[in-house]
Amino acid sequence: MDSILVKGGGPLKGQIEIAGAKNAALTLMPATLLSEEPLMLTNAPRLSDIKTMTQLLQSLGAEVTSMKDGKVQAMSSHGPINHVADYDIVRKMRASNLVLGPLLAREGVAVVSLPGGCAIGARPMDIHTDGLAKMGADIELKDGYLHAKAEGGKLKGAVVDFPFASVGATENIMMAATLAKGTTVINNAAREPEIVDLADCLRKMGAQISGDGNSSIEIQGVDRLGGATHPVVTDRIELGTFMLAPAFCGGEVECLGGRLDLIGAFVEKLALAGLDVSETKNGLLVKRTGDRVKAVDVVTEPFPGFPTDLQAQMMAMLCLADGTSVLEEKIFENRFMHAPELIRMGANIAVQGGTATVHGVEKMKGAQVMATDLRASVSLILAGLAAEGETQVNRVYHLDRGYEHIEKKLQGVGANVERIKGV
Ligand code: EPZ
Repeated sequence: MDSILVKGGGPLKGQIEIAGAKNAALTLMPATLLSEEPLMLTNAPRLSDIKTMTQLLQSLGAEVTSMKDGKVQAMSSHGPINHVADYDIVRKMRASNLVLGPLLAREGVAVVSLPGGCAIGARPMDIHTDGLAKMGADIELKDGYLHAKAEGGKLKGAVVDFPFASVGATENIMMAATLAKGTTVINNAAREPEIVDLADCLRKMGAQISGDGNSSIEIQGVDRLGGATHPVVTDRIELGTFMLAPAFCGGEVECLGGRLDLIGAFVEKLALAGLDVSETKNGLLVKRTGDRVKAVDVVTEPFPGFPTDLQAQMMAMLCLADGTSVLEEKIFENRFMHAPELIRMGANIAVQGGTATVHGVEKMKGAQVMATDLRASVSLILAGLAAEGETQVNRVYHLDRGYEHIEKKLQGVGANVERIKGV
């Protein structure tokens, strides 16, 4: 397994190109199952999760080819479709559950393995299945697989009230509703930019969708969908991650493709911490104003609140802040696994259930640390930028799921970061 070696260093300077969003591509790709016409995604990120989704769609009978160095996914599902999403692929990536809605909509039947839990939480699917049941799907759990069947072979439009603004459930129900008979309304829908990106792509395919980006989305079912070509929206989590980099060792970084509307409450927290963010014609320029960031309290919430996927990176920054910060993780039940690793580097963090209290320290020291999940991994690399000496982050396969060549992007702005090939 590869490791990443980071040497704490001086100010950063330069530009980082932000890739297409992993979490948009992972919901746009299953949309190919909704049509027999070709779907072409441009600006797709080159990540291991995209390869996993490719394998899953191919196992269902879709043709998926990536072209032009992997940034373009050409997909087509005109042939016969297999209805079973196998455990061996699904267990590797929770987003595999996003084939459930499209399979049910296209075929009237789906057998999808439950993804199982992951490091950050149990990750149940009750909001997905309750919503589909409202639309006339009969869903039974057998041998770890969800066996779903649409009554009469076709889903019906329904009013679906979500108990929580689940991103994946919003995506599954929205895709399922495009081919249902009648109108579906999703109340308390997720409002993330990836939801709007999916709706934009589905509209290009002929879907009738309105209200995406707000809490209530209306979908009028149509008989069939056509093909489309669609650019994957910029990755707001990669954007936020690299916007934080100058906070750790000073300097300034221009994030190419960055947009303020993608990062909601996050940018206000950067300003409170003492980072200067300005819009340029190519993206967002971030610089640290003083020698040390200020303490800031954070509560993770559904969009446009502070994103849970940037909590670990923010905690790493607050370890060095002047003052005490309180971070509340309200989306996932176990998303502080980066804390013990940061403590090994000299951070002063007290975790109590879903709340972490971070007392800022003047400096941190490099150490061998362990990546536990995708976003925790990158928070350790950022901490290494500020730490004295060397930090070696092990098990970086987590990292490769969500960040394209992170060491090259950081090297490009002057960071001393290299990948050590594992045995
Ligand atoms: C998406 O996961 C993202 N993944 C996650 O990013 C992100 O952290 C999450 O949304 C929240 O923003 C993709 O888009 C592929 P949820 P998702 O359904 O859809 C509970 C990353 O690092 N819940 O909004 O699975 C659930 O347990 C990943 O890129 C239910 O209880 O998130 C969690 O506590 C990590 N029942 C909360 O809701 C359900 O049926 C948020 O889940 C569904 C969810």
